[in-house]
Amino acid sequence: MEQKKTYRATWECPSNIALVKYWGKKTPQLPLNPSVSFSLKNAKTETSIEITQSGEREIKFLFEGKPSAFANRIKKYLDVLGNDEKWLHDFSFRIESSNTFPHSAGIASSASAFGALALCLADLKKQITGEKVETQNFFKQVSAWARMGSGSACRSVFPQFAIWGESAEIEGTSNYHAIPVSENIHPDYLTLHDAILLVDSAKKRVSSSAGHQLMNDHPFREARIKQAKQHTSKIMKAMKTGNHKLFFSIAEKEALSLHSMMMTSEPPYLLLHPNSLSIMQKIQNFRNQTGLEVGFTIDAGPNIHFLYFEKDKNEVHRFIKTNC
Ligand code: DP6
Repeated sequence: MEQKKTYRATWECPSNIALVKYWGKKTPQLPLNPSVSFSLKNAKTETSIEITQSGEREIKFLFEGKPSAFANRIKKYLDVLGNDEKWLHDFSFRIESSNTFPHSAGIASSASAFGALALCLADLKKQITGEKVETQNFFKQVSAWARMGSGSACRSVFPQFAIWGESAEIEGTSNYHAIPVSENIHPDYLTLHDAILLVDSAKKRVSSSAGHQLMNDHPFREARIKQAKQHTSKIMKAMKTGNHKLFFSIAEKEALSLHSMMMTSEPPYLLLHPNSLSIMQKIQNFRNQTGLEVGFTIDAGPNIHFLYFEKDKNEVHRFIKTNC
């Protein structure tokens, strides 16, 4: 009897935080506006997939050694990808995944999860077909596949900075996949750190998918799209020229704009806590008093991401210890 073919792949992928926010989407998982992200290199998902040829597809998923509800999302994801990637239907899947960060750390785990998953799938396809794929095309494909699982995941595939979404002023940008943009930027940005100041580690009160939908009929929709486009080109210029003041001012405006959109949607969501506001003000005061180039961003939740450069880390750590 012919032996059933088995293939294996293991990849890791970091999570990311958006500096210019993706908020609002259209089918098939395309963004209303461009976004710019920064990879969180210490917050990674590691995924291993073993696939075996089988007549009837079975999908087993273990997260940190245990069955997890995320299995349902993976099944749906494989169905969606399977519309174009017919080979996915010929195999049974055994998927094992783990994170280097705790669930309560205030880090979006779907970005790193779908990034790692898409990396494994593209690797498996390469093994099955034996095709030679150029590195650049490999990651482009991975980014497009990761996007189908979670929009922000398409940016996680690239280290450091990435842009997802068409921007008239930035060559190579696409709504279908992210592109890496860490070349030709001021060296300080390659030392950027993100310290997450946990205000509340509870699960999100609004899922990102439900949040994106709120933009469909949002009264400020067009103005928000225009603002995000402008912020994308401005933040890229700031990174090229090393205009740190402009960089942090855009990152902060984006965070506040995201929450303003949520507060003025139907229904409205108020996700910031009093302590989130207090920390933001402390960071701004710290910047004004010390003259250091620091700032914050926020995800769709109450936690504050404190952004600073390596050269300022001692002062920043002291500040965090005594103030936050
Ligand atoms: C506020 O990528 O999680 O973090 O595409 O529905 O999975 P889906 O949404 P997701 O949305 C992220 C929203 C955000 C901003 C950002 O990461 O750009």
